[in-house]
Amino acid sequence: MVMNPDTLSQLLPGRQVEWHQSLPSTMYRASALAREGAPHGTIVGAEEQTQGEGRMGREWHSAAGEGLYFTVVLRPQLPPRDSPMLTVCLGLAVAEAISRLTPLRCDLRWPNDVLIGERKVCGILVKYEEGAFLAGIGVNLEQQGFPQGLATPPTSLAMEGQAGIPREELLTMLAELIDSYISMLEKGGKQGIINTFLLASSYARGRAVEVDFGSHRERGITDGLNEDGYLWLRLPSGEKRLVVAGGVRPTQP
Ligand code: BTN
Repeated sequence: MVMNPDTLSQLLPGRQVEWHQSLPSTMYRASALAREGAPHGTIVGAEEQTQGEGRMGREWHSAAGEGLYFTVVLRPQLPPRDSPMLTVCLGLAVAEAISRLTPLRCDLRWPNDVLIGERKVCGILVKYEEGAFLAGIGVNLEQQGFPQGLATPPTSLAMEGQAGIPREELLTMLAELIDSYISMLEKGGKQGIINTFLLASSYARGRAVEVDFGSHRERGITDGLNEDGYLWLRLPSGEKRLVVAGGVRPTQP
């Protein structure tokens, strides 16, 4: 069912919400809204995206009615370099929303993957543009299959036995949880969020992974986050390397 803008305004009082039938990407529209001065918490969503954008230049499959695709314009009291911490907050919010609305439990893989088991159910893309953070969230809901060859094996709530979760309810809960994790970050500082992430993510410590740095790949064992929310990787030599960008994948045995 198409999201009804009036229902959304009632469910999200005091918040600017735009919902489109089709957009190239909610990220582009959010960027334009941020340029026009859209307030903190503004949400722009679409039933489908024709140029859905993933991390590292990848495409995000965004067929109509199959997922929840939206971007929130965020203006927290945080500098642009805190964007990894915001990504961590968003992952925590998505995992908690799914656990409140379904019996499913999510895992988090730094920086932005929300997983069920080893399969990705949600992607998060944070950009700093036009003086605001743009937080793009794509949750796989009703898909029964995906194209071959995606970087991480995907899943959807339907494939996990949870078809038909009302998107309005998921969006409303996500909006509240995003606010609450961001205010925890603003008021309580980074360490509380980092500790929460360490508890919520089986990947944060002690996992054998391969990191794709773009120019090269390295294997190692994850070793927590630093004080800015970047991932530590312990190399086989014992040396510690800070991962500030790149794809983290489990090492194939
Ligand atoms: C990833 O690669 O994991 C990030 C995917 C982010 C997808 C969402 S869907 C809503 C928003 N609009 C986009 O074009 N991308 C993000």
